[in-house]
Amino acid sequence: TTLFESPRSAMPRDVREEKLRILSNRVSQCTRCAELSQTRTKTVFGVGNPEARILFLGEAPGADEDRQGEPFVGAAGQLLNRILEACKLNRSDVYICNILRCRPPGNRTPAPDEAANCREYLEGQIEIVDPDYIVCLGSVAAKNLLASMESIGKLRGRFFNYGRAKVVCTYHPAYLLRNPAAKKDVWADMKYLMHDLGVEL
Ligand code: URA
Ligand code: URA
Repeated sequence: TTLFESPRSAMPRDVREEKLRILSNRVSQCTRCAELSQTRTKTVFGVGNPEARILFLGEAPGADEDRQGEPFVGAAGQLLNRILEACKLNRSDVYICNILRCRPPGNRTPAPDEAANCREYLEGQIEIVDPDYIVCLGSVAAKNLLASMESIGKLRGRFFNYGRAKVVCTYHPAYLLRNPAAKKDVWADMKYLMHDLGVEL
């Protein structure tokens, strides 16, 4: 912590929970994206600790998430759980959300206007949770959060800043399912983050 770093929000846990609940309720009624609001089953707001120090940012809900209303519950989510376990973290220690809160039909890539429509909700979640670290999972998260055109390969291995948070970019768990050789890179990225947090793995 440097002299110039702004302090963590002192907002009590129950106030954060209430603010997240109100925002989530707005999201559940959102019709900003005409197509997504008609094709979704459930909105997928976010889950986890409202006081989390680490926020994991994915791309968009898939079929399982659309059915259950919770992020990262399908195959990619199972792998994310294993990554968290390796870092000695539980899902309840961290906060997990996505660039989009509705599933794009056929899991297509989020359109720029969809990401823009959903941005207010993401900003709200980041402001309320006020994490010390944000982990961008995959290029859609990194591109949208950091407004960067670089590939994950080029964004890895250093910290970016987003407001008060330090941002780490790594591969998406769905990418790891197709390219298991990249798992060692994600492990290196998580060790890099946890070391900065004061935890040696
Ligand atoms: N992939 C994502 O990016 N987010 C989810 O919630 C699930 C799969
Ligand atoms: N390309 C992506 O979109 N995501 C990754 O995680 C890696 C490559």
